[in-house]
Amino acid sequence: MSGPVARRRVAVLVSGRGSNLGALLAAARAPDCPAEIVLVLSNNPDAGGLALARAAGVAAEAIDHRPFKGDRAAHETALDARLRAAGTEIVCLAGYMRRLTPFLVNAWAGRMLNIHPSLLPAFPGLDTHARALAAGVCLHGCTVHLVTEGVDEGPILAQAAVPVLPGDTEAALAARVLAQEHLLYPAALRMVAGGTAPPPADPAAALAALLPRP
Ligand code: GAR
Repeated sequence: MSGPVARRRVAVLVSGRGSNLGALLAAARAPDCPAEIVLVLSNNPDAGGLALARAAGVAAEAIDHRPFKGDRAAHETALDARLRAAGTEIVCLAGYMRRLTPFLVNAWAGRMLNIHPSLLPAFPGLDTHARALAAGVCLHGCTVHLVTEGVDEGPILAQAAVPVLPGDTEAALAARVLAQEHLLYPAALRMVAGGTAPPPADPAAALAALLPRP
């Protein structure tokens, strides 16, 4: 007979509407989910994700970056303190649009996940859907990866691909990718929290394997 599943304490950092947070919250309601969302933090007091979390009965707080007047280390120290006070074991960035310094990245190394709206290592950074359309790629998608010091460079945990269709607009492509994000992030968190994640892939090695040898 197996007892209740051990649940890892997860905090989610958001900056905006929080639809990925919504998917994580919904997935964590399953009794067999090895992750429990215990805290949502935002640098933006107006983030929709904060209201979403509160409606789900999850502690949610804004730690506005603006009063820190560009002192990223001090802002991250405040975030880190709150994460630790909540007994956080895993941090999920879900549309958290602040670049992190090595301080917070290293404090949570191996325990901080991010979702990015492209098939990394293609299209790191912003405006991924417009850039995918401009590049004429046939496949696009999303990636969940561990956060490291390089932006969108960390080891890949999971990816989902979607086709780019003739006549696609940026909005249509973004919506197709977002639907996959909502499936991929809960699945990846479930693997990490449950200790069943395969060893992450090194994106540079994955790219090298795809490129023709000189
Ligand atoms: C998502 O598409 C996520 O992949 C992206 O921001 C959106 C947030 O939407 N993240 C990044 O671009 C990070 N570089 P959401 O607030 O509805 O989850």
